Amino acid sequence: MADTNKSATLTLEGKSFELPVLSPTAGPDVIDVRKLYAQAGVFTYDPGFTSTASCDSTITFIDGDKGELLHRGYPIDQLAEKSHYLEVCFLLLYGHLPTAVELEEFESLVTRHTMIHEQMHYFFRGFRRDSHPMATMVGVVGAMSAFYHDSLDINDQQQREVASIRLIAKMPTIAAMTYKYSIGQPFVYPRNDLDYAANFLHMCFSVPAEQYNVDPILARAMDRIFTLHADHEQNASTSTVRLASSSGANPFACIAAGIACLWGPAHGGANQACLEMLREIGTVDRIPEYLARAKDKNDPFRLMGFGHRVYKNFDPRAKVMKESADEVLALLGVENNPTLQVAKELEKIALEDPYFIEKKLYPNVDFYSGIILDAIGFPTSMFTPIFALARTVGWVSQWKEQLADPQLKIGRPRQLYLGSTTKDYVDIENR
Ligand code: ACO
Repeated sequence: MADTNKSATLTLEGKSFELPVLSPTAGPDVIDVRKLYAQAGVFTYDPGFTSTASCDSTITFIDGDKGELLHRGYPIDQLAEKSHYLEVCFLLLYGHLPTAVELEEFESLVTRHTMIHEQMHYFFRGFRRDSHPMATMVGVVGAMSAFYHDSLDINDQQQREVASIRLIAKMPTIAAMTYKYSIGQPFVYPRNDLDYAANFLHMCFSVPAEQYNVDPILARAMDRIFTLHADHEQNASTSTVRLASSSGANPFACIAAGIACLWGPAHGGANQACLEMLREIGTVDRIPEYLARAKDKNDPFRLMGFGHRVYKNFDPRAKVMKESADEVLALLGVENNPTLQVAKELEKIALEDPYFIEKKLYPNVDFYSGIILDAIGFPTSMFTPIFALARTVGWVSQWKEQLADPQLKIGRPRQLYLGSTTKDYVDIENR
């Protein structure tokens, strides 16, 4: 963040206040209002943060108009094509692409932290088997702070590092365990000879009674889903992690807060909601009915998997995900399944519909990821846990970046109070 010679002038009741303008390396300039309250006695008002930068960051950049997503400067389509998830994890965490030696060391480190404390198995068993896997994830990840006491001190750089690796390494194990628990199958331990994505598929789909061979195309598709969800700058769940962490909370508690936020259908829960919507529509002839509902101001229904707060032309992740979906569906020979037919037709009709064009509503990453995950064999309830697993590296990278900032302050938004002013308490008999 660099000071510029530019400033903005705010005129308020005849008085002028000069506000510094900060220049980013990319994106719009930012008016610095940090001293505004002290100088002018007013707050700014921006619910939903549509025009407010909550922090400075060097990790991820999005240009919503261009449909551009960069991690440490590298475009997501290049990373999805040429890189793989653990390399992207390294990039997000440490700021540069690893050398061959660095990558090998990092992969080995992550692989050697994939098992979870054996006692956590019993902790799982306290949940009802019909719990939503996200409910279990929030609980289990939060509970990691009760198992890994040697990586809770946020002021110790080494402990922060260990916590980061633990979270990235153990999240697939935890997500797979939530799945196995929900279907009543035994937990499957990680295998260190498999790569990150293949190991996750192994832990989800193998059973002790039978040999399970991971299909490399499915492992590649899984890896892509992880890569495309790895980070997305200051979205709701990442901002939640940063806000939780600003109070000095431990890393596992902060990531559990991020998981809780991600669960909502307007954010990470959209992939589950989208596939459920496609199934509810059921057949192509019912699409107009649902489009009409999406446009009706009096109906809260929205087309799930469409629209994005930042991307207003297209979601660059959706483009890659669509290619992946075609590849996986062809491999599995399910191109003609009815849900997919509805998805393809809905996409086509919505993209030509004036309402969606005018409001710049395009299919987002979740529109296609659900289709792939369904084809691989995951139930819809596992879609958001898989998103949480993939996003963990983004949360962790942003958490580490925030803690390294010497100017870190507790996050404490202001409000526009519209409630009652002071009034005297009324005794119960007089109300
Ligand atoms: N279907 C129908 N109409 C929509 C949709 C939709 N999916 N999304 C937005 N609109 C309409 C709104 O009704 C609103 O119309 P209006 O201007 O007439 O009031 C207008 O488009 C703008 O919508 P906002 O809600 O103001 O846009 P915002 O940027 O706040 O919301 C969001 C973005 C939450 C993603 C929204 O588009 C949505 O709810 N989409 C469906 C859920 C979804 O797919 N979420 C996944 C996001 S991607 C991710 O988390 C990985």
